[in-house]
Amino acid sequence: MTAAPVKAREYSSFDITSDDFWSRPFAVRDETFAQLRAGQGLTWHQPLESMFPIEEPGFWALTRRADIAFVSQHPELFTSAQGVALSPMPAEIQRFASFFLSMDPPQHTVYRRLISSAFTPRNVRQIEQQIHDNAVAIVDDLVGAGDVEFVSACSAKLPMRTIMDMLGVPAADQPDVAYAADKLFGISDEEYVSDDERVGDPVAQIALLSNTGIELAKFRRAHPGDDLMTSMVNAEVDGHKLTDEEIGAFLILLASAGNDTTKQATTHAMMALVENPEQREWLMEDFDGRIGPAIEEFIRWASPVIQFARFATVDTEINGHPVSAGDKVGLFYCSANRDETVFDNPGIFDLRRESNPHLGFGGGGPHFCLGSQLAKTELRNLFRELLSRLKIVEFGEPDLLFSSFAHGVKRLPAHIQ
Ligand code: HEM
Repeated sequence: MTAAPVKAREYSSFDITSDDFWSRPFAVRDETFAQLRAGQGLTWHQPLESMFPIEEPGFWALTRRADIAFVSQHPELFTSAQGVALSPMPAEIQRFASFFLSMDPPQHTVYRRLISSAFTPRNVRQIEQQIHDNAVAIVDDLVGAGDVEFVSACSAKLPMRTIMDMLGVPAADQPDVAYAADKLFGISDEEYVSDDERVGDPVAQIALLSNTGIELAKFRRAHPGDDLMTSMVNAEVDGHKLTDEEIGAFLILLASAGNDTTKQATTHAMMALVENPEQREWLMEDFDGRIGPAIEEFIRWASPVIQFARFATVDTEINGHPVSAGDKVGLFYCSANRDETVFDNPGIFDLRRESNPHLGFGGGGPHFCLGSQLAKTELRNLFRELLSRLKIVEFGEPDLLFSSFAHGVKRLPAHIQ
């Protein structure tokens, strides 16, 4: 693996890479991002800490919505194929763990079309019914529950069940798969894994997820059913079909992309609604009419994915600022979603926003979140049940996840009636 040549550039005096910075709450971190947004635009920073022995000179921090959208929508200038992790990580590992998330068009386009073609209207209807039934069952258990830990009792359940049901993971395997997916995501938090485990453990989790996908694919090739997995093994675009190994890789991507994100959005949105009872009342006056735009605000507010990265393929410019071929750029969605030139009072949770062009699902372009509709269906079904059936919800202090990638709450004490 070759490290990029060290460039004689001055690092910004603003710290957005130290552990100390990432251990502060979201709103406090945004005070620094706000200064970057108001300043010269792009700033050059020290690399983030990495668990891999790989050296990079640093990265450009993109903090304004327009700049992040520009880079996301120009894959010919900013590649994903060298990896999309801002923290230095070998591209081969990323390719294995994130499948077509770290590919560029036209290869990316083929895989995305293959997967999309498996989501037939019939499969989507089946998944929506499962989401509704699971949301009802989760809230059945919460009614009158008293003191509970909200993340494990509620937020974590629907996203994982949705993915398992969608892919047909047998009930007996679901706890192991859920555990592997959770561990894979928590790797930056000391409490989740010890230093020794940091490199070895993710490899084991990735292997378990990949093998689960491979087994499911083999099973459905031998025993076709009326489900998404059967459609995936049969999908064909321009003469390409998915191999079992690729379906294994897709399961890893889904377990990381579709699971923690929706879980964190649920927790942050529920906390915001409990803190702002007048917003909750306004939403409930016309739930079906208002939940669509409200969910956009849930995502903007939560910003579950803090950042992804790209590498410049050629010498180019971002909003007039020169960027050299090989430079890494960090796309801080968390900052785009608080950009005061786009959002009025960005630090206020406001369901009544008329326009909400947040970048919670990415900055547009080929990698825009493939599961955004699914995530919205989950949130709509779950919040309908939560807000109409729970009479009292009170929260204690959240225990925040230490991570520069996921905006997470590990635990949230709750009292529910
Ligand atoms: C609130 C929930 C979610 C958030 C905030 C979220 C956010 C994101 C973001 C920021 C990206 C990268 C976009 C880019 O690079 O331009 C992404 C990609 C992706 N997401 Fe989501 N996501 C969510 C839910 C889901 C769900 C439920 C699934 C599926 C079960 C999913 C599947 C994917 C996939 C497959 C990609 C890769 C797309 C590609 O590379 O073409 N996501 N998501």
